[in-house]
Amino acid sequence: MTSQPAPSLPPRELEIFHRYAGISLPRHVAYPMTNWWTSLSTDRAREMRRASNTGRTPTGSPDSALAPPDLSLYVHIPFCESLCKFCGCNKVILKKERADAPTRVEQFLAALLKEIDLLAGELELARPLRQLHFGGGSPTYLSAEQLTTLHERIAGYFDIRPDAEQAVEVDPRITTGEQLATLRQLGFNRISLGVQDFDPQVQQHVRRVQPIEMVRQTVEESRRLGFHSVNFDIIFGLPYQTVESVARTIEQVIELAPDRIAYYHYAQVPAKIATQRGIDHTKLPSSDAKLQMFLMGKQRFTEAGYQFIGLDHFARPDEALAESLRSGTITRNFQGMTTGRELDLFGVGPSAITHIRRVGFIQNATDSDEYAARILEEGSAVTRGMRLGSDDIVRQTLLEELYGTAEVIPSRLEQRFDIRFAEYFADELSRLRQLEQDGIVVVSQDGRITLTDPLGRVLMRNVAAVFDAYLEPDAYLHGASHEYSTNA
Ligand SMILES: C[S@@+](CC[C@H](N)C(=O)[O-])C[C@H]1O[C@@H](n2cnc3c(N)ncnc32)[C@H](O)[C@@H]1O
Ligand code: SF4
Repeated sequence: MTSQPAPSLPPRELEIFHRYAGISLPRHVAYPMTNWWTSLSTDRAREMRRASNTGRTPTGSPDSALAPPDLSLYVHIPFCESLCKFCGCNKVILKKERADAPTRVEQFLAALLKEIDLLAGELELARPLRQLHFGGGSPTYLSAEQLTTLHERIAGYFDIRPDAEQAVEVDPRITTGEQLATLRQLGFNRISLGVQDFDPQVQQHVRRVQPIEMVRQTVEESRRLGFHSVNFDIIFGLPYQTVESVARTIEQVIELAPDRIAYYHYAQVPAKIATQRGIDHTKLPSSDAKLQMFLMGKQRFTEAGYQFIGLDHFARPDEALAESLRSGTITRNFQGMTTGRELDLFGVGPSAITHIRRVGFIQNATDSDEYAARILEEGSAVTRGMRLGSDDIVRQTLLEELYGTAEVIPSRLEQRFDIRFAEYFADELSRLRQLEQDGIVVVSQDGRITLTDPLGRVLMRNVAAVFDAYLEPDAYLHGASHEYSTNA
């Protein structure tokens, strides 16, 4: 275990950090953020999905000559056995022993299978499926047989390429060896474990008790079965965490040697997420402590051989995410940093989001029962979405570059979109001067915008806010009027 003092920032940078960090800003898991999406009819959603087959954009940007993108499919399975108090995911807590549990799950599965049938009927299925992701909630709430039924239905329609990334989120507390073996047999090759924190007091407070031996066993079993990439989700900023306790968790993570680590800043939005109201707010770490936790994680994971990727991810240099950072195919979506930037993403299940790259976003109803009822009765559970205009597409691409690579190269956007960067973003570039003076970004002679390390990396969201046309122009300094979590 390291005995080094936790890293912090020099006094001037610390002062700047405090000036910018405590405000509410989006993390841009989508651009435009979901607050700006509006209700969407089933017909309009269908039209958007079909537009993805042609690969052309209705906005007429120069991208219009491109072939239709390859496919990515996200399947949302919302059920969990118990509630973790910090959880911001869309989940349904359903104890298995409840009398109505089997019927609710069966009804949900019937709806999910029907939605897959309907989607397959609309898409050009010669397009290769490059990515499949089961997320939740907890996908392994489903039995091995149910997971098999689901996967077989997908494989029956889609051309899942042999080298496709097939990923599944796994809660080690409820996942059996039989389920792991089944998932591997079905072709899943990446497994993502919700670890969160190893400290017993923290685990108890957030109601996520999961001893390290349990996690070790899941890791060893996954490796034995041949999952290529074993990933951990860790959260810092939880109640009862201290810099020292997080340091211990980090060392335990390094010892277990996952291939990829998502090191999430606890996103606390109790106004939106009712289940977070049970968190003891008096025990949350201070803003300074959280900054130290982040810098410490970055230092220790990097020393241990991981590459720092984007906002909150680390990966072994030979892992797919690190490779996609090098090849410029990295992106950010609702599942975090991910590979496959050029894919059209289709989401099935409650709250699932479809992102058709040059067309727009479509989202299903969030409530699981409403989702199932609507799919079974009407054949659609679409609620809201957004059709993208050409400016949205330019900014979406810019933000993907920024979050993925920590820099923006004007010539790349100019080639792709037929714009003159300095003119197109004249207002943004003048606002950026303030961030440059404060040492958050460096703007080079050729106009390249680079986030400084560590200050710019920590305040990435503030830089992104400058380019978000839906926020108030000074949001990067004063925060957005919609509620988002903060950096502090
Ligand atoms: C759908 S959950 C993971 C799958 C599985 N249910 C589990 O808990 O192991 C995805 C991840 O989101 C992260 N997460 C959930 N709520 C969060 C929050 N409020 N702030 C930051 N990360 C959060 C957790 O690290 C969690 O593992
Ligand atoms: S963290 Fe995972 S297991 Fe816990 S409530 Fe959220 S989705 Fe369910």
